[in-house]
Parts: sequence; C-alpha cells; structure tokens
Amino acid sequence: MSRRLGVLISGRGSNLQSIIDAIRLGELLASIAVVISNRPEAAGLLRAQEAGLDTLCLRQKDYESRDAYDAALAGALRAKGVDLVCLAGFMRLVGKPLLEAFHNRMLNIHPSLLPAFPGLDAQRQALDHGVKVAGATVHLVSDVLDGGPIVAQAAVPVLVDDTVETLSARILVEEHRLYPRAIATVLDGGWRIEGRRFVLEQASAGAAG
Ligand code: GRF
Repeated sequence: MSRRLGVLISGRGSNLQSIIDAIRLGELLASIAVVISNRPEAAGLLRAQEAGLDTLCLRQKDYESRDAYDAALAGALRAKGVDLVCLAGFMRLVGKPLLEAFHNRMLNIHPSLLPAFPGLDAQRQALDHGVKVAGATVHLVSDVLDGGPIVAQAAVPVLVDDTVETLSARILVEEHRLYPRAIATVLDGGWRIEGRRFVLEQASAGAAG
C-alpha cells in the first residue's frame, strides 16, 4: 500500500494534529497528501495549512446529490494519489461512491469502545449508560455506521464525577496515541479481513502454531 494519506475533517482537527506530529517524529512512516474538510470554518484546516499541507474544502451543498458529493471526494483523493483515507472527526456519513473507491482503505476513529455507543455523542451515551470503562476505537469504514472491522482500541476508566467534558478529554488523549499507531499497522500490511474481524497475519500464525 502506498503511504500517502488523505485526512477528512469537519472540526478542530486534534486527531489530524496527532497524525502530523507522529509523522514529524518519525513514528508514522507516511505523508499526508491532502486534508479535506466539508466545513470551511473547520479549525483543522488552519492546522493543516500551518503544517504546509495541501487542503481542500468540499461542501455538500455545492453538489446536486449525496452521491455526487461522495464521488467528488473520491475523485479529489484519487487525484492526490491517496491510498489510505483517515476520517478524523469527519461529521458525515460516507456514501457508496467513496466507500467503493476506498474499500478497506478507509479508517475512522470513534470515541467509544465499539460496538457500544456508535453515532453522535458517544461520551454522553457512555455516561448515561453508566459504564465503568470507556475508550476509543479505530475501525475500517463500512456501510454500517461505526460498524466496520476493528483495528485497535484503547480503554479509559469512567470516574464517579466525570462530565462529558472530562471523559472526552481523557478519551482524546488515548485517541491521539491510538490513531497514528493504527494507521501504521494498516499501512504495514500483513493483515486480512475474516468475516468482520481485522486479523494480523502474524497474530493468527502465532495462534495457529
Ligand atoms: C474525536 O473524538 C473523534 O473520535 C470523533 O470526533 C472527534 C474529532 O476530534 N470522530 P478532532 O476534530 O480530531 O479534534
């Protein structure tokens, strides 16, 4: 797999920053070919520009349909030679044209231990449910919301006096460690999808032998 990433954002871009930092530190051997936002006001666009990255803003409302928009995203990513797409706070359901263009080559990070609490406000869902452990998940993107094969997870405790803000901050620290490592794992290859499982070849060889 080529090591050119396309990062899709909608907001503050702290996960984008963690990818930029990991590349700078030599912890992630990759380059960011383009950062695309669906919102012009996304603070992450400024981070990307400060890091000297190519940026694009593509807005859904400039396209006549969801499919046309997803096809435009796929076209822009392809034009930049992107091989692995990293959703980083991209607040939009990914449609078929983009899913098909990057089948098993698109990652997302979600602030819960999936399959618990998919969708919006995962940290609030976790607090409302009363779980004692929360966390973050990196998964391949499929046509099921937050439902693709799980690449990596990290857990954090839920404390008695947690608010959405304090829990989100604790999860975010783990997200920033987890996402660059998971991206490196996917780029390194040596994995396959079995059913809905992401299986590292080495791990499965060990288990079998
Ligand atoms: C993160 O919590 C991520 O898990 C979720 O959206 C948030 C994005 O934050 N998908 P940021 O824009 O990367 O700071």
